[in-house]
Amino acid sequence: MAPTFELVTGAPDADLLVVPVFSGARLGPGAQLVDDALGGTLADFMQETDFDGKRGEVLAVPTGGRLGARAALLLGVGDADTFDIAGLRRAGAVLARRAAKVATVATTLLDAIGSEVDRGAAAQALAEGVCLGRYQFLRYKSEGKSSQLERVLVVGRGGAKVRAGLERGARIAEAVAWARDLINEPAAAKSPEDVVDAAKTLARASGLKVKVFAGEQLVRERMGGVLGVGNGSERPPRFLRLEYAPASARGTLALVGKGVVFDSGGLSLKTAGGMETMKTDMSGAAAVIAAMSTLRDLGVKARVIGYVPLVENMPSGAAMRPGDVLTMRNGKTVEVLNTDAEGRLILADALALASEEGADAIIDLATLTGAVVMALGDKVAGVMGSDDAWVAQVQAAAARAGEKMWHLPLPEEYRRNLDSEIADLRNISSASGAGTLTAGLFLKEFVGDAPWAHLDIAGTARASADDAETSKGGTGYGVRTLVELASTFRKP
Ligand code: BES
Ligand code: MN
Ligand code: ZN
Repeated sequence: MAPTFELVTGAPDADLLVVPVFSGARLGPGAQLVDDALGGTLADFMQETDFDGKRGEVLAVPTGGRLGARAALLLGVGDADTFDIAGLRRAGAVLARRAAKVATVATTLLDAIGSEVDRGAAAQALAEGVCLGRYQFLRYKSEGKSSQLERVLVVGRGGAKVRAGLERGARIAEAVAWARDLINEPAAAKSPEDVVDAAKTLARASGLKVKVFAGEQLVRERMGGVLGVGNGSERPPRFLRLEYAPASARGTLALVGKGVVFDSGGLSLKTAGGMETMKTDMSGAAAVIAAMSTLRDLGVKARVIGYVPLVENMPSGAAMRPGDVLTMRNGKTVEVLNTDAEGRLILADALALASEEGADAIIDLATLTGAVVMALGDKVAGVMGSDDAWVAQVQAAAARAGEKMWHLPLPEEYRRNLDSEIADLRNISSASGAGTLTAGLFLKEFVGDAPWAHLDIAGTARASADDAETSKGGTGYGVRTLVELASTFRKP
């Protein structure tokens, strides 16, 4: 269970008090409480232990029962003048990791942020950091110990805005955790049908309308990409459509998420190493479903529709072959030269449907190319799109949400590398290089006139180590950006 947040003033009664210290051992808000408990020797103590207050540095301080809290922890937050909302989110996560063995922690961190920063947004980031830093996937650990942290007392200035921010942050983090859980789940336990079931349970509890295409319905709906990729698996594909429709909605936003529950590569089989992490190839789908589950609680005004194609990419005797041609939902034909470029095939159908249904703007999230991992690593996603104003709106939302992305181009010059000898398109570029961009150019062929943005999250969807609010394994990247984007959506 997620911890609860309470806004308090004065010396708190907690198991642990966490106070910020800026670089150069400059005491942050609340540190005076600790100094008083030590009889004014905190400066000496920091010097003796070589504690500077650098970002992420921590120092436990014995308080000998002279403080309301049983123990105190100094938390380094780096330079005072660069400490911002992202820093607060990180610090909240470091706090949660350090406080895993106590039930109640108090902190003065919120007041470390400059007065020019919106208090609600700051409180939200703090709550997100704490909840995400506390996350662990322990389902398959016989002796895994989950965090004991239950209550967080936020000491400082505040009011309704701060309380609302804390609640919003906790709600969003809960959705991120839902996505992480599904991403971390082994592929054996999440067939396309299983994912639909999990999404249905969540959607019903969140007031979303659910529609699912299976079997013959996929044929009737002309989902050629979904069917083509799905053919190789014993576990048949699904197409999930979620809808959030508030009264008197302002505009319609379409969210599309790649849902490959396992990517073996198909007949263009991956290497053993290349397959190790491919249960996470449904991270885009998880992000879309999770983000949509928060919209009612957060009072989002826009109508939001989620389009989630779900398949398993496997190499059975019924699998599509290199050289086969698929007819996609919008009528375009695709020569499949590499069955491992499957994400773009299922997204093609989803983007075509989103375009047909008249969305005012579209965004897709997909663990699409290894090339984006080479280019940007695991902390920065690639964003591409057909409309600069819409991409800018997405980037602005991502910046507020604290998820990094970099705008990459979709050069028309590369489009000819997707020309096929016998069909409208080939699914891989005939030239080497720019794999992320040609994947984006391929998707563009299935989008109508609506502004569209594409996030390649192949790198950011997964982390190999814990780092502040990011946990190893599935990260749930994209949930925060999608929630922020939906909350502030303007027709581009
Ligand atoms: N799911 C992979 C992309 C991926 C790679 C995600 C590494 C996360 C980590 C995708 O379906 C894929 O296999 N892409 C191929 C495309 C190629 C065949 C054109 C790739 O990037 O190698
Ligand atoms: Mn693949
Ligand atoms: Zn894939």
